Amino acid sequence: MEREALRQELAAITADATKWVQQRRVLGEAKVWLERPLPPGRGEEPSTATPPPELSLPAESAPNANPQPPWAPSLEAFYVQVRGCRRCGLAAKRQHLVFGEGDPRARLAFVGEAPGADEDAQGRPFVGAAGQLLDKIIIGMGLRRSQVYICNLIKCRPPFNRDPEEAEVAACRPYLEQQLALLKPRVIVALGRHAAQALTGSGEGIGKLRGQDLQWQGALLVPTYHPSALLRDERLKRPVWEDMKRVLKALEAAQP
Ligand code: URA
Repeated sequence: MEREALRQELAAITADATKWVQQRRVLGEAKVWLERPLPPGRGEEPSTATPPPELSLPAESAPNANPQPPWAPSLEAFYVQVRGCRRCGLAAKRQHLVFGEGDPRARLAFVGEAPGADEDAQGRPFVGAAGQLLDKIIIGMGLRRSQVYICNLIKCRPPFNRDPEEAEVAACRPYLEQQLALLKPRVIVALGRHAAQALTGSGEGIGKLRGQDLQWQGALLVPTYHPSALLRDERLKRPVWEDMKRVLKALEAAQP
């Protein structure tokens, strides 16, 4: 009799666990579509974000002021390769080179313009007011910030948050391209005009670029308004949400 009670209890626990997994899948939290499978030989270890700038680095990787290809084969190693970059004038005033962060296996990448004061101080992208709004957008999509990858076109803060200059974009663009080539996301969201123009090669404004079916090296490229623009004009929230619905559809349709 005691044995039968135990069997029933085990069956109930199993049913609960199955239901929980199914609910997580419905909520989009299951790994089945959010993350690519791990390469063979790697267990289910937690994903590692890009190392923070204060990490002490091996002696042989002395900072390189003008990093050149061949580029390192992983995001972590690539960060080490470029962290001492002084290719343009922004390096002299920066507190941190803001490389980017997130899941190196993420299927969704957000690309912003350039770090602001908060990002420069912390060495992390999108941690100020615009970042808080981006976090809300990500949560609204049923995702967590740790499940996506976030970076910028320009890795160092332009003074007084001015627009990036052509020479700064030219110096930094190869870093973004290599970052995305290593990440191989299914969908790239370009936040604002500068990221959208850099990734499309177009000179059009963001209002013209958004809503088009664009590609970047096999990934769906979705230009949308920058979160800072949404902070200034609430009416832009609706079109951004329409764009995020397209992003979710594309992620759902893509194979893991
Ligand atoms: N704006 C950006 O484009 N990037 C950041 O990291 C923060 C604000």
